[in-house]
Order: sequence, then C-alpha cells, then structure tokens
Amino acid sequence: MAILQILQYPDERLHTVAKKVVEVNEVTRKLVRDMAETMYAAPGVGLAATQVDVHERIIVLDISETHDNLMVFINPEILSASGEQAGEEGCLSVPGIYETVRRSGKIKVKALDETGEFFTMEAEGFLAVCIQHEMDHLQGKVFVEYLSQLKQTRLRAKLKKRRREAL
Ligand code: NI
Repeated sequence: MAILQILQYPDERLHTVAKKVVEVNEVTRKLVRDMAETMYAAPGVGLAATQVDVHERIIVLDISETHDNLMVFINPEILSASGEQAGEEGCLSVPGIYETVRRSGKIKVKALDETGEFFTMEAEGFLAVCIQHEMDHLQGKVFVEYLSQLKQTRLRAKLKKRRREAL
C-alpha cells in the first residue's frame, strides 16, 4: 500500500470531472486500498479519487470512530434526495478550513463496491453529507465553492498567505 499525495485547493486539477470506471479490477482495488490508507493516515473520513489526481469515479469513506468500517463507492449515482441539512464541513484538500454547507438531508445512492458488486444504500445525517461532499469532488467541485464569492476570495488569500509562511 502507499500513501498518495492529496491535491491542495486551489489546485486546478481538483476541478477535473472524473470518468466512470469501466471495469473494476486489480488496478481499481489497489487504488482503493491506497486511497483508504491515505485517508486514514491524514486522518480524514472521506476521500475522492480526484483528490489524489486520479480522475475516475471512486470514493472511500469511513465515518466510524474505530476506523474499521470502510465504505467504497465506485461509479456512485444519487437515485433520490429529500429534505435539507446544514452542517460544518472540512476537506483534506482544504486543511484547517471549516464552513457550513447546505445539503440534502436524505439520499439514496447506487454504486459498485470494490468487487464490482452493485449495491444501493440509503443515508442521512453526517453520512449523507459525506457522500454528497465526495461526489462533488468527482464533478470537480470543492465544498468552499458553495460559499459567497467574497468568502472564496478571502479564503484563497488566506491559503496563499499560509503557504508563503510555510515555505
Ligand atoms: Ni473533500
């Protein structure tokens, strides 16, 4: 397994739209394992392939406190969404930034797992937030893009400054 480099906002590559996985095979499974290891090491609760510069529709999630409940979504699609919720979100591609985002409260999603098996799942609360957040990454969207233009401009300036100071 290997820890992969996570792209940092505002890296342009984070805006790439991911392609469907044509065949779930050993290469896919190795990527899933590496993504999981990268997510656990960060540490984080979710990671989209986009964030490690692989532009395929693959997501890993683990929102358990014990970090032993890995969920894999390949070619995920939202079948239905209802309700609304607003919660604070963070992202491994935007470290240290937490902002409130409005999302669907309840979703039904279909996807393939790492064996290529099809499944559907209903999710609400934090899990529903995580799935929507990671699926946005696959569309090239980072959660801070839900903020006002003014806030986004300020945020980019802040991150730039922080990066300069870190050099
Ligand atoms: Ni994220």
